[in-house]
Amino acid sequence: MPEESDVLIIGGGAAGLMCALTAGARGRSVTLLEHNDRVGKKIAISGGGRCNFTNLGASPENYLSDNPDFCRSALARYTPADFIRLVEKHGIAYHEKKLGQLFCNTSAKEIINMLLAECARSRVRLSLETRVCEIRKSDRFEVLTNLGTFCAPSLVMACGGLSLPKLGATDLAYRIARQFGLRQIPARAGLVPLTLSGEWLGHCRALAGVSLEARVTYEKRTFQENILFTHRGLSGPAILQISSHWNPGEPLSINLLPGRSVPEVLGDPTLRELQLDNALGRVLPSRLAALWGSQLGPLRKLKQYNPPELARLGAMVNDWSPVPEGTEGYATAEVTVGGIDTRDLNQKTMEARSVPGLFFIGEAVDVTGWLGGYNFQWAWASGHAAGGVV
Ligand code: FDA
Repeated sequence: MPEESDVLIIGGGAAGLMCALTAGARGRSVTLLEHNDRVGKKIAISGGGRCNFTNLGASPENYLSDNPDFCRSALARYTPADFIRLVEKHGIAYHEKKLGQLFCNTSAKEIINMLLAECARSRVRLSLETRVCEIRKSDRFEVLTNLGTFCAPSLVMACGGLSLPKLGATDLAYRIARQFGLRQIPARAGLVPLTLSGEWLGHCRALAGVSLEARVTYEKRTFQENILFTHRGLSGPAILQISSHWNPGEPLSINLLPGRSVPEVLGDPTLRELQLDNALGRVLPSRLAALWGSQLGPLRKLKQYNPPELARLGAMVNDWSPVPEGTEGYATAEVTVGGIDTRDLNQKTMEARSVPGLFFIGEAVDVTGWLGGYNFQWAWASGHAAGGVV
């Protein structure tokens, strides 16, 4: 016999759990299907294990989408303050790390336990290790799985994007969108380290482990935060941020000394007798100063360099322009950029315009947040929007 409920949700991540507890609290009977043996695996490892669960400043401007206004309604109706209220109700201690980013003091597991407790209170039925084989629609949705058939008049696809397959990411949301005729914005890895090749890679390898604050610009987008040189290329918050905007084959502009110019720094007369790397090392990490200085030939005293040489060095520091080869891909990407085309969804409810009863929420949708708690805020807000109407 098929199992009946009012609402079926596929995917027990941030968006699916929020949708489930919201619908359950309205008295709807909810069944959540998750193919992993536990829910919330991504929440557990997020924010270095402390879950950056929201951002105090979250607004539509912090999201990428082909249809930038789509996220406005859901974000306005479920705000960071709403989620903070829930966190405080459960006595979870948290702090602001920087730039409005809120983290648990102790562990991301507290967020999972909070969501599970709310789901239990709303009598949400969790069906774990449930693998979806097929979805059919008649007067209701029928989801055929390894554990039998589940039926409901409302079906919410909350099974995320493609990032981190090892934690259970699949393309099910995209396949179901295709099956029901919804359009998609091509998916790509976002919030992901960039890979370099050739001489640029040689420089990154030589500097692997060095981290510094930099201003990274691509087209009209600039992020000023730390960057990290790695054995494969570049990482760190500013690089992850720009990766969501970057198009392959295009150069970045990286100012390794934001707010100061090399001629200004090296124009200090007290530095003239120092070897170039030591002078530059006053304002840059020493390994970077030595490598960049040695690009002008054997290291000499600062006073022995002529103005064109120092101008060249200035360009390498204030406007380093590597052309990344690619990204590290979905294996390390924190998010998937692109997804279900929001033009085919109702912005207030997340329901497919052409398929009544079918909803898409969370990362599966073409709404991608910046680094810093914005992605969870979208998961909560879109989950809440659908949970309020299913
Ligand atoms: P999510 O991917 O969380 O959940 C989808 C669920 O569906 C999973 O449980 C999956 O197993 C399940 N599923 C998939 N296919 C299925 C199928 N075929 N059948 C059944 N179930 C299926 N964001 C942020 O705001 N702050 C942060 O600190 C971080 N940190 C962070 C760290 C790392 C390492 C990553 C990879 C990502 C982050 N993020 C983040 C991003 C954030 O985790 C992400 O945006 C949300 O988890 C998206 O929530 P969803 O519920 O949409 O998808």
